[in-house]
Amino acid sequence: MGIQTDPRLAFAEAGSPVPMGMLCELTHRCPLQCPYCSNPLELERKSAELDVEAWCRVFRQAAALGVLQVHLSGGEPAARRDLEQIVEGCRDAGLYANLITAGVNIDRARLERLEAAGLDHVQLSFQGADAETTALVSHMKDAHSRKRAFAREVVDLGLPLTINAVIHRANIEQIDDFIALALEFGARRIEIAHAQYYGWALANRAALMPTRAQTERAIGRVEAARARLKGRLTIDSVIPDYHARYPKACMNGWGRQSINVTPGGKVLPCHAAETIPGLEFWNVAEHSLGDIWRDSPAFAAYRGTSWMNERCRSCDRREIDWGGCRCQALALTGDASETDPVCQLSPYHQRVHQLAQEESVRIVEGFRYRRPS
Ligand code: SF4
Ligand code: FES
Repeated sequence: MGIQTDPRLAFAEAGSPVPMGMLCELTHRCPLQCPYCSNPLELERKSAELDVEAWCRVFRQAAALGVLQVHLSGGEPAARRDLEQIVEGCRDAGLYANLITAGVNIDRARLERLEAAGLDHVQLSFQGADAETTALVSHMKDAHSRKRAFAREVVDLGLPLTINAVIHRANIEQIDDFIALALEFGARRIEIAHAQYYGWALANRAALMPTRAQTERAIGRVEAARARLKGRLTIDSVIPDYHARYPKACMNGWGRQSINVTPGGKVLPCHAAETIPGLEFWNVAEHSLGDIWRDSPAFAAYRGTSWMNERCRSCDRREIDWGGCRCQALALTGDASETDPVCQLSPYHQRVHQLAQEESVRIVEGFRYRRPS
């Protein structure tokens, strides 16, 4: 038998990017209706979802490609009755399985089954730090108490827990309370992620946008808590970039580290890539994941730096932020290959700042909740 080569080393030696993580949207079904959901406005139907065998094949191909972590997401992944078998498929492929869940429909018995199937980690979303805010944002009356009970079961079973809080105008003053929740549960990590404006969040942008002063206070609170809780709780944060001077390295660069698979098996370089017209996405039903990663038109479209305009291509930060976010560039300029206008060097930058400022004080009656069309 020949010596097995680590795929990550083989790709790295060949100068090709190696994917680290794969986000699997197992379903778009979800009991919650968050107005910032990263799923597309046109949600995929249950009848189009990949079956267990297909997911297990994708996991084996992902492992062969060098993927280390699989994020089982949705919608709500627990809406699938076969989630346990899917988790088992991850384990059998040697992948680290992280469940991203709203935590409202998994009881103790099911959690035990998932743990026995090989679940490694749970990431639990909180829409608010109190019951009222969670109900308002998730549009589910008793979501908060269900989430609290679920968080306790996760920790009680010895599974590592991360709390995830998406921050926007309706909960931005609750940063310290979210952190207190994470400490109360014994979570190891909390992710404070300001809403990113694609999909449903773009449709709700005027209702979600915080003011610059709120944003600065929130960033200050995160920094203070980080210093205070060093060694006790890891605090990751995604800052709200409409108020920033440089864009984030979205997905750590297009087609560099991440793969996103939709419920029906389309493989995307990021969760919002379908908003970019003209991109051709290959499906795992017709192509291997390796072929898709290396050769599919959608992954090639904005990989590396050759697609960039002169502004980005000649900039020292081109391999730091990779030109920012393609989906945001499209949403704000109409051209996905433009410099992300969050960048202060973009000719659209002032317009974005102004837009953020105007929307952050606009009074909006209610949210457009996430619902199947
Ligand atoms: Fe990043 Fe492009 Fe702006 Fe340079 S010009 S900082 S590469 S977005
Ligand atoms: Fe698509 Fe940023 S969300 S590139």
